[in-house]
Amino acid sequence: MADSSTQKLHAILVPYPLQGHVIPSVNLAIKLASKGFTVTFVNTQFVHHQTAKAHPEIGSDIFATVRGSGLDITYTTVSDGLPLGFDRSLNHDQFMASLLHIFSAHVDELIGRIVESGEKIHCLIADTFFVWPSKIANKFGMLYVSYWTEPALVFTLYYHLDLLKKNGHFGKKDRREDAINYIPGVAAVEPKDTMSYLQETDTTSVVHQIIFTAFQDVKNADFVLCNTVQELELDTITALHAKVPFYAIGPIFPPGFTKSRAATSLWPESDCTQWLDKKPPGSVLYVSFGSYAHVTRTELIEIAQGLALSKVSFLWVLRPDIVSSDVVDPLPFGFREEVNDRAMIVPWCCQNAVLAHPATGGFLTHCGWNSILESTWCGVPLLCYPLLTDQFTNRKLVVDDWKMGINLSNTTPISKEQVSDNVNRLMSGQSGGSL
Ligand code: UDX
Repeated sequence: MADSSTQKLHAILVPYPLQGHVIPSVNLAIKLASKGFTVTFVNTQFVHHQTAKAHPEIGSDIFATVRGSGLDITYTTVSDGLPLGFDRSLNHDQFMASLLHIFSAHVDELIGRIVESGEKIHCLIADTFFVWPSKIANKFGMLYVSYWTEPALVFTLYYHLDLLKKNGHFGKKDRREDAINYIPGVAAVEPKDTMSYLQETDTTSVVHQIIFTAFQDVKNADFVLCNTVQELELDTITALHAKVPFYAIGPIFPPGFTKSRAATSLWPESDCTQWLDKKPPGSVLYVSFGSYAHVTRTELIEIAQGLALSKVSFLWVLRPDIVSSDVVDPLPFGFREEVNDRAMIVPWCCQNAVLAHPATGGFLTHCGWNSILESTWCGVPLLCYPLLTDQFTNRKLVVDDWKMGINLSNTTPISKEQVSDNVNRLMSGQSGGSL
């Protein structure tokens, strides 16, 4: 049994089991351990299985590559309640229901076992999207720290759902279309810039119930830690802080940004450095739509043809499942040959290494929050094409508020001419940006 008078502070950290949440959680675990915490990091077996397939060298420990630095991190996995072969992205509601009931029971059991062994756990750090952390923290007498991996603006819009509802901006068929100008610390947000879940009129889905419950649960948190930058969202953070103990702690990156990374990628990373090394500074457009979003085949074809028209060199992360249909290669016939001398197309890469490379001069992005933080850190301007959830709200921050990027398109559907024109605008430094 550990002597509680000498035991270091012990945090148990539970990320939401999706790529865009696991990465900032792993980085937070490393940060806490480097400040002297003992950390128990809990992954789902599914995420672990995918990571281990992508990085066979890590075996049973995703922190294997950073162990040498003496970090006190125990890595463990529990089942999310679904078989490994179950398609979680296609059956999202079932996946979320399983996280709600079965995964939470497994986390509860795990904590019970650790506590029974005599080890004190001082706090539970869990993703804000979980609906159960305050109950488990309460049961075991731990502090509950809620970890929010998206911007403060997105947090505050979810936090004030009741206000949005009361004012007719959410949850009604004929919802108001004028600007939302009554959220504390937020000047104004157009309804089209709110998260996709807030733009839906049917609010009875599993995801809506989870959002409602999670944002009730977060009211019981002892702290909310947000992976955002204080200076970028000061007014929103200050207003939130008056209601909840909300702290901006970002950007949370791996030490050295591209070095000392734990194995976080769920897909094998292609090495792009040699290709980038041959390109002039600032000449390459990096294109990626993150780990989760899909585009239609029509959109993909316009984007591809626009890239071809632009004559710009580009590095495109084309996830095999980016188009949710069974086509073997969603790119237009002959496209790969046409752009072969100035393009590299890979299924996944080390994005931090690509963004930090001097050859990278722009980023066509779906506006995932991690991508925005990483690109901003590297001074790479953004060409924004939001697809779902918080990405519409993140776009507003980048383009309208911070002037660090431009829109790929102001109309739907997008056309190849728009894509080509805006790629050239961005790459010639006419993004109107401050980067
Ligand atoms: C999801 C949501 O889509 C996003 O809007 C939300 O803010 C977080 O959860 P995701 O779509 O994966 O995230 O996008 P993003 O937030 O940008 O995270 C992707 C992460 O994967 C980044 O850290 C990025 O560096 C990494 N990545 C991406 C790679 O390492 N390699 C790649 O090839 C692509």
